[in-house]
Amino acid sequence: MSGVDALAAAARLIARAQRCTALTGAGVSAESGVPTFRDVQTGLWSKFDPAQLASPEGFRADPPLVWRWYAWRRELVARAVPNAAHLALAHASGRFERFALVTQNVDGLHARAGSRDVIELHGNILRTKCSAECGVRFDDPAALPAGEPPRCPSCGSWLRPDVVWFGEMLDPDVLVRAEEAASACDLMLVIGTSGLVYPAAGLPALARRRGARVVVVNPNGSGLDALADVVVRATAAVALPALLA
Ligand code: OAD
Ligand code: ZN
Repeated sequence: MSGVDALAAAARLIARAQRCTALTGAGVSAESGVPTFRDVQTGLWSKFDPAQLASPEGFRADPPLVWRWYAWRRELVARAVPNAAHLALAHASGRFERFALVTQNVDGLHARAGSRDVIELHGNILRTKCSAECGVRFDDPAALPAGEPPRCPSCGSWLRPDVVWFGEMLDPDVLVRAEEAASACDLMLVIGTSGLVYPAAGLPALARRRGARVVVVNPNGSGLDALADVVVRATAAVALPALLA
């Protein structure tokens, strides 16, 4: 299928859909200047070791290092603005009988674009919690106790970002909501994800098993192309406004 044919085929599936679930990954924020994880040239993990910066072991070994890395990413995200893809998804909910947005991103850009009830599988870097799970949480980075990295005002443990690290479980309630959204849709849009990290990467297959059509939007090949009905080889900020207009 040519690029134009794929776009038209995807638009037809979208026009027919009643219950749409979108699954997004780092690619949806790439055009906002937030690096993806696995790009060989510019991806976050090409410069840093994920095991050191995004795992419980890495955090135990050097909490200040991990804290500074997330503080840097928070600043990057604070300077970024939602792009045309985030905005198209925020406006899409009105088009369908039911619309759900599931993201692997921790940057909060979907919410800033106006999406509501975003199912954030991997947490959000704007939220901070006590690493000892004593219950202390901060939703606003500006309200964090001073110090680098800050200590929990209640129990004195290190504070950490409220994100899911390698080797950690997803919040079970969040995962259940995502699985419900995947099971209940008749169309799944898969945007800007390499499809390599589970359980997120299993959601399109779940949707497919329940009879949904699957559209992948990704300028490069991904692990989810094989189960897609249509693959749109374009960037998210170019394809989504056209598809969801
Ligand atoms: P990846 O970096 O693995 O994949 C990004 C995908 O976006 C790739 O398939 C790119 O081809 C695609 N892409 C790049 N630019 C794009 C654009 N402008 N428009 C659309 N697509 C574009 O990121 P994720 O799949 O999100 O987990 O990674 C999944 C998880 O792995 C992340 O949530 C993170 C990471 O380790 C945790 O931190 C737990
Ligand atoms: Zn605490």
